[in-house]
Amino acid sequence: MDLAGKKIVLGLTGGIACYKAAELTRALIKAGASVQVVMTEAATHFITPVTMQALSGQTVYTSQWDARVGNNMAHIDLTRHADAIVLAPCSADFMAKLVQGRCDDLLSTLCLARPHALPLLVAPAMNVEMWQNPATQRNVAQLKADGIHVLGPGTGEQACGETGLGRMLEPEQLLEEIIAAFQQKVLQGKRVLVTAGPTFEPIDPVRGITNLSSGKMGYAIARAAREAGAVVTLVSGPTALTTPYGVKRIDITSARQMHEAVMATVGGNEVFIAVAAVADWHVSNASTQKIKKDQDGKTPALEFAPNPDILAEVAARHDAPYCVGFAAESERLLQHAEAKRLKKNIPLLVGNIGHQTFGRDDNELVLFDAAGHVALPRAGKQALARELIAAIAVRL
Ligand code: C5P
Repeated sequence: MDLAGKKIVLGLTGGIACYKAAELTRALIKAGASVQVVMTEAATHFITPVTMQALSGQTVYTSQWDARVGNNMAHIDLTRHADAIVLAPCSADFMAKLVQGRCDDLLSTLCLARPHALPLLVAPAMNVEMWQNPATQRNVAQLKADGIHVLGPGTGEQACGETGLGRMLEPEQLLEEIIAAFQQKVLQGKRVLVTAGPTFEPIDPVRGITNLSSGKMGYAIARAAREAGAVVTLVSGPTALTTPYGVKRIDITSARQMHEAVMATVGGNEVFIAVAAVADWHVSNASTQKIKKDQDGKTPALEFAPNPDILAEVAARHDAPYCVGFAAESERLLQHAEAKRLKKNIPLLVGNIGHQTFGRDDNELVLFDAAGHVALPRAGKQALARELIAAIAVRL
């Protein structure tokens, strides 16, 4: 679970987006976090403390004069064991308060009194004109300068009927932002290109040849790279997976299309991670019409031509990024993988055993570089992806 053991103080301020805080609470808890809700008086007009208490399973606080807190120090006690404060929704007024350090209710006092290393994440939610007002924009800039994470806002139709920037991010987007906030920013500002999934080489318009690959490892790596602060492009073969949050995805089908997409985008990237299971050959006599089954007892003869080796070609560029290859072997991983690394002339090759990874949610990896090899023991693919990104960052 991405937020296992994390203690989150979720602050709600007045705004119609309060209804999304209910969904966010559930998502945070599902991801392993515990959620302590604190609401301003205005927030209680949009959603009841009862709802938030039922969803979070913890007492909801709305007042600094709450007699249930023995020492009357809720504004101190609530954050001392927390891992993050998330304000969702955060109103324009509350942002102004944060900027000025005002503390005239429990939530604003709690924010001002937070330990300085405790991350504060705010998800603005307001009308487009309120968002674009120079006063709000000044406040946003100041919040960022103060080290506060501003999440979004999104753009689109608003509850007031107007359209534009100011919508609170959706709960699932906020969840991704909160998970990312806990990851080390080891690739901050770096550009990373990832290939993932299988390729599909047509035989005719309805048939083809492909490799076994769900794309899960590559997608997890793309997500981990973005969590680490990178700008990530994912060139993907056909998969059933959803695009990781904040990642730009380019869909291709065949190896030659993947080659074209990679060559068009690789310039300017600092890291290239080739996770895709690229077909080694394509059918050179592929038919533009469906090949008929009934051919007087004869079976079609397929002819093959090699596909471009995308990784080797990228590694050979004069402006080559740091190149990471993958090898899915069926046996003798140690010998095959190191040989492959040298043949492709890449600094890092990641080996895994095919039947122990295909389609699964867990995996185990062995990292080969010039210094030798190191194993990352079996774990979930997302956890391994984060370890791999950390390993790449130290080698960059
Ligand atoms: O050569 P082989 O397929 O064994 O090497 C696997 C690695 O090379 C993977 O990282 C894969 O994404 C990459 N590759 C590639 N283009 C190919 C074949 C493999 O980028 N045509």
